[in-house]
Amino acid sequence: MTVAAAETAEQEVIGFLAERPLVVLTGAGCSTDSGIPDYRGPGSRYAGQQPPLRGSSPPGVMTYQEFVSGPAAQQRYWARSHVGWTRMRHAEPNTGHLALARIDPDLLITQNVDGLHERAGTRRMVALHGRIADVVCLDCREVTPRGRLHDRLDALNPTYGQDRLDLEVRPDGDVVLERTDDFVVAGCEGCGGRLKPDVVFFGENVPKARVERCYAAVDALSHRGGALLVAGSSLAVMSGFRFARRAAKAGIPVVIVNRGATRADDLAAHRVEAGTSEFLAALAATRSAPA
Ligand SMILES: NC(=O)c1ccc[n+]([C@@H]2O[C@H](COP(=O)([O-])OP(=O)(O)OC[C@H]3O[C@@H](n4cnc5c(N)ncnc54)[C@H](O)[C@@H]3O)[C@@H](O)[C@H]2O)c1
Ligand SMILES: [Zn+2]
Repeated sequence: MTVAAAETAEQEVIGFLAERPLVVLTGAGCSTDSGIPDYRGPGSRYAGQQPPLRGSSPPGVMTYQEFVSGPAAQQRYWARSHVGWTRMRHAEPNTGHLALARIDPDLLITQNVDGLHERAGTRRMVALHGRIADVVCLDCREVTPRGRLHDRLDALNPTYGQDRLDLEVRPDGDVVLERTDDFVVAGCEGCGGRLKPDVVFFGENVPKARVERCYAAVDALSHRGGALLVAGSSLAVMSGFRFARRAAKAGIPVVIVNRGATRADDLAAHRVEAGTSEFLAALAATRSAPA
């Protein structure tokens, strides 16, 4: 049974975090102000059919097992994703991303795949679930830029999706299309193999080295009076939740800034119900102020 931590006033939490070493864990909530929807927020278009807080994959999201099940699934994935990417690639970092780059934490761990922390200039970071702008060949493992694949797919499907620009882009950067069997998929340029976006799908594991780097950064906070700040994540997915659990176990304060409940509310030293952009901008201003 989860008991929500008492709400703490924003200013008090900013004071608490002002001088501490920080590891920051971000989620989809950090990018909603850039126009990329989340899965579980109150304003999410999944409202009413949201996955549970300890959830499996959200409705309509392709799992890894489905993706590798055969050419029809890959055709469906790439058709939807190709149309959605046309718009997702133009998303810009928001105030929260820029503030985090100024805060310059020990490590920024993001569950987002949109690349916006990198674009905002954050240096020490782990993209836990990879980046939607990278493509990996499942057969020879070569990683290539999505922009290049996009141009090849455009050439193979010159008018595809141009009549569907009204469709809403979903959290994964795809759109829902009923018919996709007319879409022509491109294979790996090197070996002809199957291409997949280089992101961790539901049903896949985060590579071990990435997880270990994050654990090490969290562990290192304990003897330096540091804190783990979670911003804009429901922590429904275990791959992010485990860092909050690790910190809490070691007595490292966990601070959560989120609109709505999270799975780690009962582990948190402080919880603030606030927008990530506004909160992080206020925190950045405090931390950069002369002592
Ligand atoms: N931008 C992206 O790259 C993106 C977007 C959606 C989903 N995903 C993937 O799906 C998974 C989703 O898990 P998650 O926990 O990151 O997302 P989530 O959708 O489960 O949780 C997001 C949380 O942020 C809150 N929120 C939304 N906008 C906010 C704002 N401006 N300020 C404060 N809170 C806000 C929501 O209420 C919600 O509780 C991740 O693992 C990620 O890989 C990525
Ligand atoms: Zn290949």
